Amino acid sequence: MKRIVYIYIISVFILSCTTKEQPRITHINSSSLETVETEKKIKSLLAQMTLKEKAGQMLNIGLPAMLKGNYWDKKSSYSFDTTKFKKFIIDYAVGSIHNKPRIPVSKEEWYQIIKKIQDSAMSNTRLGIPVLYGIDNIHGANYVTGSVLFPHQIAIAATWNTELSYLASNITSYESRAASLPWNFNPNADIAMNPLWGRIAESFGEDPYLISEMTNAYIKGSQAKGLNDSTSTAVCLKHFIGYGAGKNGKDRANALIPENNLRQYFLPPFEKAIKNGAMSVMISSNAVNGIPCHINKHYITDILKGEFNFKGVVISDFSDVDFLVDSHLSAKDKREATKMAVNAGLDLIMNPFDVDVADYIVDLVEKNEIPMSRIDDAVTRILRLKFYLNLFETPYNKPENYIDFGSKKHIDANYKTASEAITLLKNKNNILPLSPSKRVLLTGYSANSINLLNGAWSRSFLGRDTLYNDPTKLTILDAITAQIGTNNIEFLKGTDYLEDINSNEVLKAAKNTDCIVVCVGEIPATEKSSDINELELTTVQQELVKKLSKSNKPIILVMVQGRPRIIREIEPLVDAIIMAYLPGQEGGRAISDVLFGKVNPSGKLPYTYPKYSGNILPYFHKKADIRDKKWGFDGFFPQFEFGFGLSFTNFEYTNLRLSKDTLKMGENLKIFVDVKNTGDREGKEIVEMYSSDLVSTRTPDLKKLIGFTKINLKPDELKTVSFSINSKDLASIGIANNWVTEEGEFEIQIGGNPQKLLKSIFYYK
Ligand code: BGC
Repeated sequence: MKRIVYIYIISVFILSCTTKEQPRITHINSSSLETVETEKKIKSLLAQMTLKEKAGQMLNIGLPAMLKGNYWDKKSSYSFDTTKFKKFIIDYAVGSIHNKPRIPVSKEEWYQIIKKIQDSAMSNTRLGIPVLYGIDNIHGANYVTGSVLFPHQIAIAATWNTELSYLASNITSYESRAASLPWNFNPNADIAMNPLWGRIAESFGEDPYLISEMTNAYIKGSQAKGLNDSTSTAVCLKHFIGYGAGKNGKDRANALIPENNLRQYFLPPFEKAIKNGAMSVMISSNAVNGIPCHINKHYITDILKGEFNFKGVVISDFSDVDFLVDSHLSAKDKREATKMAVNAGLDLIMNPFDVDVADYIVDLVEKNEIPMSRIDDAVTRILRLKFYLNLFETPYNKPENYIDFGSKKHIDANYKTASEAITLLKNKNNILPLSPSKRVLLTGYSANSINLLNGAWSRSFLGRDTLYNDPTKLTILDAITAQIGTNNIEFLKGTDYLEDINSNEVLKAAKNTDCIVVCVGEIPATEKSSDINELELTTVQQELVKKLSKSNKPIILVMVQGRPRIIREIEPLVDAIIMAYLPGQEGGRAISDVLFGKVNPSGKLPYTYPKYSGNILPYFHKKADIRDKKWGFDGFFPQFEFGFGLSFTNFEYTNLRLSKDTLKMGENLKIFVDVKNTGDREGKEIVEMYSSDLVSTRTPDLKKLIGFTKINLKPDELKTVSFSINSKDLASIGIANNWVTEEGEFEIQIGGNPQKLLKSIFYYK
């Protein structure tokens, strides 16, 4: 039961301009494409289809399976193998294809590939249904040469600027469509609960609200003009669900998620995204509570298709029917796995190598092991997406019509995104920004690598091939050199990821420098290759910093990494810390511009940065989680908190006020706070708003993010920021596993630094 406590009375007056800087993005919901006419067309087509044709529609194969050579061959190009092509496209009339040629290709080459597939599918099969081509263009149209490569999602989350998520997605969509790629396996709406998880870089971080906002801006960026527009791509939300919560932090590891946590943290970003028009969802490869998501009927059919009324396509992850047999050991063979997955609600099976699942589907239906109604439901959804994308009319797009592909406009947007993401985590004695006349010693594994800035999914899957890098893009070394000239910079690599190269020489060189910039990083990796056993930054990279600290020269640590690698021992040895995440192709420029003050950093952490591997908690933990040995409640001491990030200027928060002292159901509560730039530089500030339910029957999280905005302030400028909330914003999942807002006291907390939030209590009745 809640205590009833006295409430503050807060007078309401609005000073200066009330601000809401991020413009609202209008949005065409997919339901606006749902017409009686389209549904009729789908029905009529379905009525003409044989069982084999339906099973073919449910198959998504990998492009390399139709190319000459074997699937994993890295050398050969994209010539089709005539026999395989005929088998997949004509004989089986596969509904969908994913993946890329073995070497990166241009939009013109993509056009040739897609045109050949669509022309054959539409002219040489009985029903002429176009193929739905899907691709992981997850940070820009990364599988189309010449496209811009944006920062990874974690960096976009760090901007806390939904406009930039919109923009990145809008450009990605345009540049994908320039290559005739209409369906993107993104955004990633996973809740990254474990910083060990390698794909945290592909996510929007740990907070469900930030993830929802960023995901929705992303969806709008891809689909706002309507899916049938020739610059739109259909998004595919992934991964449903709990991929980012693997218990041991490994790729595709089992997650333990009780129903209340599922509903409180994991489902909301998906639910909102579906409301806002997401027309496809990819199922997570992992198991949750020991049940592989691919066979979890409760998740797929009851929740996703039932509760959320999802009308789109549910696709499996890569080879996941095999995974049910080989890895989860849940099915005795592939036939049984196909049956379990389709009966659980899977519509499209990503079965990269062959058509066997289509044969199983036919057999399973004929033997009454999968009902025909389930198959019809699956095919209806697949056809619906094809109609919405207008593929029957426009199965491919002329590359020459996309004149903004790789343009300066797109590059500028990319640079802006990288710049706003960079998060300043320490700046002792205002060592930054550096004066361009200072001598800099640059060192470290990530100092001179485009691949490390780009991370995985960059032209190639792991993004490690230097061959495919754009020679016009600048590494950190290139960008600093361009900024301060060759005379003032010395570069020595120091270390690799795991091995010392010449750290003693770096120490010697430190004598002749004014400051040292050490750029650490992670090997570009994703999925299994990104698994690690230690969250600590690799020993050799830490040793380099320790060694250099003996020089008594100021050290600036630049981190180029998706994960928050533990830096507890070296943090006290450095004067400034810049988190660059995986900032993409313009990251070198953006980092250099922060170092030398052309850009005033404005990113904030989208995850909790742990200090100890034995003390990993998201910021939304319970009070008892942080009970310390002295029986106090001070056991949460991350290296840096979620929402933390410094600027070269200072922002002062005053005058937090609420429009009423008691909020009732159905009413709105307005919240105002004044933010002033008290420093001498223009800067952007992220205003974060949290709520705390002070007493709730199900132990409450200590706080949860319920609003944020990013504002720009000139020196001395003051803006009043306003938010409006209602009882739903305060709700949490209660004992009966539904959303409740219990009567009682709540606290609003607002600020730009999680350790210095202004607080005010009100009563909810
Ligand atoms: C990944 C997905 C990706 C799919 C297709 C899988 O291995 O988990 O995120 O969309 O491959 O490339």
